[in-house]
Amino acid sequence: MLEQLIPARRHFDGADPIFTANAAANKLAATGAPVINAAMGALLDDDGKFVVLDSVMVQYRQLAPMEIAPYAPIAGDPKFLLALTQRHWPSLASYGAGVATPGGTGALAVSARNLLEPGQRVVTAAPFWAPYATLAVENGLTLETVPYPAAGGALDVDAWRAVCEDILRTQGRLVLWLNDPCHNPTGRSLSAADRQSLMTLLRELTAHGAVSLVLDFAYLDYARDPQTVRDALDDYAAFGAEGTVLVGACLSLSKALTLYGARAGALVFPWCNDPGLFNALATSCRGTFSNCARAPMSVLLRMMGDAESSAALAAEHAHWRTVLQQRADAVDAALRAEGLAGTEWAGGFFITFDVPDPKAVTERLTQHGVFVVPLPETVRVGICGLRASDAPRFASAVRASLSA
Ligand SMILES: Cc1ncc(COP(=O)(O)O)c(C=O)c1O
Repeated sequence: MLEQLIPARRHFDGADPIFTANAAANKLAATGAPVINAAMGALLDDDGKFVVLDSVMVQYRQLAPMEIAPYAPIAGDPKFLLALTQRHWPSLASYGAGVATPGGTGALAVSARNLLEPGQRVVTAAPFWAPYATLAVENGLTLETVPYPAAGGALDVDAWRAVCEDILRTQGRLVLWLNDPCHNPTGRSLSAADRQSLMTLLRELTAHGAVSLVLDFAYLDYARDPQTVRDALDDYAAFGAEGTVLVGACLSLSKALTLYGARAGALVFPWCNDPGLFNALATSCRGTFSNCARAPMSVLLRMMGDAESSAALAAEHAHWRTVLQQRADAVDAALRAEGLAGTEWAGGFFITFDVPDPKAVTERLTQHGVFVVPLPETVRVGICGLRASDAPRFASAVRASLSA
């Protein structure tokens, strides 16, 4: 009966590997067993407590009723959109065509609906954040992948070109979702040289059709070296300003302000002022979530308009960036001490280690009380939830789990 009621495209496996791993970790932890839950996707302190940035909460508590209760404009408060865009590109005077969205996820969904037709293909680099596949299906698209550069390796321009040209040949337009810098799951970023190769490729691909680059920024405040993020953003800004490729960005308050549950973000195209694009995006907002929550927009405006708050936020980011770096370095050292390949970390909440059979290794790790997220290509480890002092136990469990 259900099969007659639900269209076939929804018959995908609904089991979310992140949810499944966390549920299993929590179940075991409830028995009092020592658990390492590296399947987490939110920042925890070394006592396992959820991190909420104080500087943000100070402002949240001061919100007046009118900063919370009224509907926000359908497309979002323009002041919020500008402030959020300027968090990334301080010298921009406009956010171009843009709308507020429920987090970066909402921004990705709005990009899928507006830049492609149902039945078309969207491309991203694999390994990728698993919900990309769900977002594609939900919007009637197929997710196609190109290989994310291996650690220490260069972007395989020929492989990317082959996939992108094929897509352009069949549908005349190309949309690339690019989670860079601070990639989930690898924890790496494209090198400056890779970025240049990619931009050259995208420019060349415009000979075959319309090309859009949709940047997905989720973890930029948690980079090992903030200057590398600045450099990447400047490169993307220069590329967007050329106007050959449509460049957009999915922005989010989830990790930046630890406001995951507030569901706030934006999709902006800062180098495009086309009213047609704006109207299309705004229509999607109206037809899906109507408008977004006003309170987190008000919080961001307060924070960005107040030097003391901005400084306090920057100090908290610096602290947690250091904690993440210590955790990443501890896992790298511990894996090497076990005779395994280490992992690189440039930023974000995750690292990966490659094994021939990620699913089997993940299952064996649970026997040691260690929970990670298996992806088709690799294993994702949430250093956002892993104490540096647990790294040796973690690495020893990994080594023991490599074979049956
Ligand atoms: C790569 C990536 N993109 C986007 C998001 C979207 O997060 P949100 O919708 O909470 O902004 C996440 C969250 O985990 C992510 O990891």
